[in-house]
Parts: sequence; structure tokens; C-alpha cells
Amino acid sequence: MRKGFTRISKITVRNQPPLINFHKRLSESPFKITFSKSFYLAHAGGLVFLRQVEDLLNFMNLHGWAAMPECMTAGNSLRLKNECQQSWLTGNFRRAGVGRGETLQTRSEIRLDEVMWLEPDTKSAEQQIFLSMLETLRLAINQRFFLGLFDYEGHFAVYPEGAFYKPHLDCHAGKSDRIVTTILYLNENWQPGDGGELKLWTTPEGREGAFVLIEPRMGTLVCFLAADFWHEVLPAHKTRMSITGWFRQR
Ligand code: OGA
Ligand code: MN
Repeated sequence: MRKGFTRISKITVRNQPPLINFHKRLSESPFKITFSKSFYLAHAGGLVFLRQVEDLLNFMNLHGWAAMPECMTAGNSLRLKNECQQSWLTGNFRRAGVGRGETLQTRSEIRLDEVMWLEPDTKSAEQQIFLSMLETLRLAINQRFFLGLFDYEGHFAVYPEGAFYKPHLDCHAGKSDRIVTTILYLNENWQPGDGGELKLWTTPEGREGAFVLIEPRMGTLVCFLAADFWHEVLPAHKTRMSITGWFRQR
């Protein structure tokens, strides 16, 4: 466990009761995340704000991960999805790799998704809205947990039918600048049976036992400590789209 992480996952998980009883028999009966809509206040631009960020941080404080359905308005998410789809059809995506720098490889047995990095000079209005939402979140996380997150890197991801990403942690060997993972899902009318759920093991550093299955529904945002939570993407039975990124430390 990295220095600084203890306070937001391990200690709090041990000392405080969970907000919601996620941990009960999760391994036998996977829990599907659904929160009531009225639980959240939407900002004028459809951004996560106020209660939402507070709820998210409270949950992160207890568990080290959090999922927030409908964190963007349907309109904004839909425009991001259209942008993603358009760029993918245009051929702007590349097969995602495993490793970094000289050790970067495409490994079909590990992951089959395709990605397009968000670049500062090509930011659409919708991307800017999303990024400003993430900026709010970054500052709020820093204020609350003193993590010193200084920037964000992210990409659109497409999982074509049949694609998956085997269990992994989001940190590169010998490099630990990715501190918090964020994922925004962009799948309209996702139905049980469409696959592509995010399976997240809820015990920090644990690769078995309790887990949650998070449906990749349009507008759902997931955050977790990148180096602590094992996770995988189950095979997608329909094309699955998202924006995945990381808040980094220097
Ligand atoms: C990743 C990843 C999960 C998801 O890109 O590292 O784990 O649900 N994505 O898309
Ligand atoms: Mn990952």
C-alpha cells in the first residue's frame, strides 16, 4: 500500500461501518450498483457537484472506490458517446497496450480494447465539460485526502464485441504516478446480457473474494485507487465505450 493511501481505504474500511452493506456475501451474489436518482443534485451543466462530490468522497473514504450513476446529463453523455463513436469509425483509435515506453506491447490475451488519448488541442466542448467536472473532483480529492494530485491523463476506449481486459491494477511496473482511476461509461440503453461489466474486487490489494459488478451504463462514473484495487472488464457482447483516465502525482 502506498504512503498516503492508508487513510482513505484501509483504516477507514476497518474502523467504520460501510455506508451501504456492500460487503455482505458479495462473492456469492454479485451486487449491482444502483443508487436512487433523488440522492444526487445535478449542477446546471449536468456536472457532478455539491452533494454528489461529497457523497463520492464519503464513499471513497470508506471503501477506496465509488460508483456514481448519472453523474452527467443524458445530453452531455450522448454527445461524448457520439464523438467517441465517430472517431472510432474514422479510424483514430489504436489497440491498447500493456506496459509503458519500451516495454509497451499489445497482448490480445490480456486486453482487446482500442483507445484514443484526449489531446489538449482537440478538445470538444463536451470534453471540456467533462474535464472541468474532473478538475472539480481532483481539487476536492486533494482538499479532503491531501493526495497532491496534479494532473489528469485519459483516453476514449472502445471494446468491440468480444473484447475484455483481464484482472489488473492500474500501475506500471516501477512507476506509480497514477493514483486515482476514473471511468465514465458511454453506453446507451445498456441491458443485462450486454456484458462488459467492470468487476472490481473490493478488498484493497485482494484478487479474490468480495467484488462488485458495475454496469457500464451511460453517465456512470467510477473512481478507485489505481494501485490498490484489482479489476477486470468482462467480455463485452456489444460495442462498449468509455473514457478512462488517471489523476497523477508528480
Ligand atoms: C482500464 C480499465 C475499466 C473499464 O482501462 O485500465 O480497467 O471499466 N478499464 O473500462
Ligand atoms: Mn484498469
